Amino acid sequence: MPSSLRQQHVTTQTLRDMKQRGEKVAMLTAYDFLMAKLLDEAGIDIILVGDSLGNVVQGQATTLLVTLDEMIYHTKIVRRGVSRSLLIVDMPFLSYQVNIDEAVRNCGRVLKETGAEGVKLEGGLPIVETVRRLADVGIPVMGHLGLTPQSVHKFGGYGVRATGEREAEWLLKSAHALEEAGIFSIVLEKIPASLAKRVTSEVTVPTIGIGGGPNCDGQVLVLYDMLGLYEFPGGMAPKFVRRYADLAGTVRVAVRSYIDDLKHGRFPSEEESY
Ligand code: KIV
Repeated sequence: MPSSLRQQHVTTQTLRDMKQRGEKVAMLTAYDFLMAKLLDEAGIDIILVGDSLGNVVQGQATTLLVTLDEMIYHTKIVRRGVSRSLLIVDMPFLSYQVNIDEAVRNCGRVLKETGAEGVKLEGGLPIVETVRRLADVGIPVMGHLGLTPQSVHKFGGYGVRATGEREAEWLLKSAHALEEAGIFSIVLEKIPASLAKRVTSEVTVPTIGIGGGPNCDGQVLVLYDMLGLYEFPGGMAPKFVRRYADLAGTVRVAVRSYIDDLKHGRFPSEEESY
């Protein structure tokens, strides 16, 4: 890709154009300045400050405990590392579900205080009117259907969603209603590939899969999962997580070598001293 094109800032319009051209959208999560800068420079299209930070940064079992202030803190520091990618923020549990006014106030606060360019909300038909109002006041919204982790207790776990006809129908209906209400894109998490393919072909906005098979318009992974930094309890990573590095192993070897050098008088050397 010519460097003049790579430097252009990604917008919600860029994503629509990419879907039209059949160009895949690449999205990853980030939670701090340094990683965000690396992702941005590598050419990622969308950076999501995911509430997955509850799991991979805070060490919580679910995303439910993440607060709006924590999302704002992480997004502010991510913002400093991003110049080209589209920056989207996950709205945490209970920051947009209570009523539409509160959703507008909280999403607006996130955009005003962080410099992010859009928000992501989990859910289908029940949040359609909220999405419509947000879109009306100029706040770009990314939808999220399928396995929506903020509903883990309702689902009773992190299993594949919409495998039955009823939930699949509900998901399709929700995707159409969210599109009509004004979303610019939609994440499809852990649903059958055939259903994700159908949603992708029926909506005009780009679909971003995570465990949604190869036919989505783009893909997203949690950064620390794909870097092999986060280790799943019992080593049980979901099968959609492809590991592109083993940073946990690299960190362990580096830290052990440092300790060993230090304990055996090999660090610091004369050259490393003043
Ligand atoms: O919180 C998150 O990181 C997400 C993505 C995995 C889609 O919602």
